[in-house]
Amino acid sequence: MIELTGIVAMGKNNEIGVGLLMPWWLEEYASQQRYKDLRTDDLGRFKEITMGHHVLMGRLTYESFPKFARPLPGRINHVLSTDMSQSKKLSLDFEDEQKAKILRIHSSFESLEGAIIGLDHAYVIGGGQVYAHFISDKKEGLKMNRILVTRINDDFPMADVFFPPLEANGFEKDDSLTLHPANPENKGFYSFDTYVRR
Ligand SMILES: NC(=O)c1ccc[n+]([C@@H]2O[C@H](COP(=O)([O-])OP(=O)(O)OC[C@H]3O[C@@H](n4cnc5c(N)ncnc54)[C@H](OP(=O)(O)O)[C@@H]3O)[C@@H](O)[C@H]2O)c1
Repeated sequence: MIELTGIVAMGKNNEIGVGLLMPWWLEEYASQQRYKDLRTDDLGRFKEITMGHHVLMGRLTYESFPKFARPLPGRINHVLSTDMSQSKKLSLDFEDEQKAKILRIHSSFESLEGAIIGLDHAYVIGGGQVYAHFISDKKEGLKMNRILVTRINDDFPMADVFFPPLEANGFEKDDSLTLHPANPENKGFYSFDTYVRR
């Protein structure tokens, strides 16, 4: 049975997005040194963890990546869209056949789950709608059993996309697995936490 791991960065109140951006990519945050460190640390970790694996995402998250970085290289990118004509549009983002081979579009969660069920492992990489689908404890079908959370100790009042509540969905933090920033000066500002299903 496939093991699904979520990977996400969020603020104190589970903020994950504003429009197509992560809130801390807005200029007012991104220009601060501690946010520059966060970005480097977090993106590096995301790349290291997901490289070589299948990654599952919604169409809006796919479109949030810069054109040169989509589909994410070195990974099989599974993108959900109710509009299969998006498939053509998304594929037009690149002309390189090698890149086309790593992009798969699915028109429903059922078809996505059917396509990945035989794998050992895949990562759920966002956004809000896709995390909400795979966190639920009630539904039939695949669900995340581990979530890797980059927790940023700040509020982002402009956020309009949120991660579902972790505890209410049956997850608890395993403190023994918490990692701290590469630069010790940022300790307390963000941490890398692991949540497991109770
Ligand atoms: N902080 C983080 O770690 C993190 C990670 C990832 C993303 N984000 C942020 O999250 C935000 C995007 O999240 P979001 O919730 O707005 O969108 P999303 O989950 O990325 O994508 C939503 C899209 O997925 C497709 N979809 C959803 N349910 C579907 C279903 N049942 N069947 C088929 N397709 C379905 C639809 O595409 P169509 O409209 O084409 O039908 C829908 O518009 C952005 O702000 C992004 O920056 C943050």
